[in-house]
Amino acid sequence: MDGYDLLVVGSANADLVIGVERRPGPGETVLGSDLAIHPGGKGANQSVAAARLGARTALLARVGEDAHGRLLLESLRAAGVDVTGVRVGGAPTGVALITVDPSGDNSIVVSPGANARLTAADVRGAAELLRSARVVSAQLEIPLETVAEIVRTLPPTGRLVLNPSPPRELPAAVLAACDPLIVNEHEARFLLGGTAAGDTPESWARRLLARGPRSVVVTLGAAGALVADGRTGTAVRVPAPRVAAVDTTGAGDAFTAALAWRLGRGEDLPTAAAYAVRVGAAAVTRSGAQSSYPTERELPAAPEE
Ligand code: RIB
Repeated sequence: MDGYDLLVVGSANADLVIGVERRPGPGETVLGSDLAIHPGGKGANQSVAAARLGARTALLARVGEDAHGRLLLESLRAAGVDVTGVRVGGAPTGVALITVDPSGDNSIVVSPGANARLTAADVRGAAELLRSARVVSAQLEIPLETVAEIVRTLPPTGRLVLNPSPPRELPAAVLAACDPLIVNEHEARFLLGGTAAGDTPESWARRLLARGPRSVVVTLGAAGALVADGRTGTAVRVPAPRVAAVDTTGAGDAFTAALAWRLGRGEDLPTAAAYAVRVGAAAVTRSGAQSSYPTERELPAAPEE
């Protein structure tokens, strides 16, 4: 393949999903639905979402030499993701234990497994992949040092999109490279060390921009997203189409992948986000993560102005 629209560096997990009426409290047991096993992981999800939309996509990740790893490779190949950067072995494939409630909301516990063995040396070994991609997208289900190495290895023309999930304190060099830093409400609160009553997504974005990223996107679920650009000093709300949510798992990954791809095509932040919210909205209407991702023809229309 001659260059990539998007290189995703991140996790690949087997998602073990159980539907529940409500989540158990501490010390409590509840019964749930039959177990479903889906290919997931924020990195693999992003790459599948982008490829399904038509982006030339590659993934740098690590899976185990096991049935879960084979499930993931099969899903990636079926979507058309270039898997030459997917390393195999070293630890079992990562696993995510997911509960989904009747409103479609999920909670997730991840056992990183092989994702924790995706090292800075793996990034250096994939320097050619990094150079050949218009945009590189990363998340935090892999070691932070691996993400820091992406920043050091990126060519000056490269662009990094980072979703710091699950959130951790970020080194200044990583923050400064983000264009954009994409956060939901939880991640914004964590990175800001808490927020006060009366704070708005606009104020979170302003405070996050002050930490160094070139741009910030705050995802707002059914309300769409807020995009803020440090270069122009503008902040714009982007509404999402109204859809009936079945399962929100992986919708943020689909949003991020679509945004990163469209930015790489030269779109400005509000235009790329207006496309990405349609992709995220489509993804919540079906269950699972990768199994829910739309093709271009399946996207809902943009909401009326
Ligand atoms: O963002 C959703 C993903 O988070 C799931 O697929 C799960 O694997 C966890 O990584």
